[in-house]
Amino acid sequence: MTILVTGGAGFIGSSLLRQLAPFKERLVCVDKFTYAASQDNVPDNVELYMADLADEEAVRYLFEQETFTDIFHLAAESHVDNSIKDCKPFIEANVIGTVNLLQLALEKEVNRFMHISTDEVYGSIEDGGYFVETTSYDPKSPYSASKASSDHFVRAYGETYGIPYFITNCSNNYGQNQFPEKLIPLFINNIIHNKPLPVYGDGNYTRDWLYVKDHAIAIDLVFHRGRNKETYNIGGFNEWKNIDLVRLLCKKMDSKLGRPAGTSESLITYVKDRPGHDLRYAIDASKINKELGWKPSVTFEEGLEKTIDWYLANSDWLQHVTSGTYQEYYKNHYGS
Ligand code: NAD
Ligand code: TYD
Repeated sequence: MTILVTGGAGFIGSSLLRQLAPFKERLVCVDKFTYAASQDNVPDNVELYMADLADEEAVRYLFEQETFTDIFHLAAESHVDNSIKDCKPFIEANVIGTVNLLQLALEKEVNRFMHISTDEVYGSIEDGGYFVETTSYDPKSPYSASKASSDHFVRAYGETYGIPYFITNCSNNYGQNQFPEKLIPLFINNIIHNKPLPVYGDGNYTRDWLYVKDHAIAIDLVFHRGRNKETYNIGGFNEWKNIDLVRLLCKKMDSKLGRPAGTSESLITYVKDRPGHDLRYAIDASKINKELGWKPSVTFEEGLEKTIDWYLANSDWLQHVTSGTYQEYYKNHYGS
């Protein structure tokens, strides 16, 4: 078996590669190596190709070099704030990239197409309920609109041409190897460097958080035991208001860095809100729990401790991914 993992040099893709690495399948990773990727994220026993999935010829070339039995599709532009600045890279990577990959999966008759998506396709849930697999799509940001579109194309290829597929929609992930632009790694990095912690709006926005390794375990489980053409919601049963999460993170960082209590909290700065900011994401992960027996293996406190410890032990990685080349790529695509 040869498994293709797209976006394996990014945050969740590399966690999935570490999850799959001990098994006997041959692993191939394709990645464009955007600012969010790092070769250091990829385990040693993985064959690496650099290609842009939005480039149909490049995708075709890859499928001429290799015969893939299955595909885990994670490659994407993934940061909401960037999609607000410019949505075109999101259309190219997330929509065109997915369709190019589906087309080759169809032509080469791959066994399974695992599409890794987000709970953000369901929009914002503000009445105290939860997103279930049948919740109507209602994306609000350009990022979630592009992911919703990619989900629709996966289902369309499944229904129209019969490609076997699974879709997973997961809540906010945190953990090692996440580029420091999203809330948790950005704030860890800023605290280390005594920089302000920009909390958007009043900080009363709610997200469900899942440790990335538990997401990788869930994807692997769906791959082996999921039912064809099914969607599985994945979440941490772990909702936090941003400001409460930030305060907890500050407390833990003070203690890890040996700084007086309150040092990190003093860096909190309330800034202008994100346009169209979704108030609450809340996932009901009971289907994957009941059907496949999955549940998170670590508590949020444990996962956060592991995450902080990893960033403190890997200052070289942090330095590297925030250095020249990466910054240059980012500036060229999204401005400063
Ligand atoms: P990431 O930004 O850390 O990594 C994305 C990877 O995709 C990078 O390595 C990047 O170089 C690669 N990539 C981007 N455009 C590409 C292209 N055109 N061709 C080839 N490679 C390309 O993102 P992540 O957080 O690891 O997210 C991975 C997937 O999981 C995404 O599809 C995302 O929508 C989904 N997801 C993320 C979260 C989260 O909290 N981060 C939650 C649920 C679902
Ligand atoms: P983020 O990590 O960007 O994930 P998403 O937008 O996909 O949920 O943001 C998580 C929450 O934190 C979201 O409500 C926006 C907020 N946030 C801030 O308040 N400040 C920041 O600097 C960032 C990056 C996010």
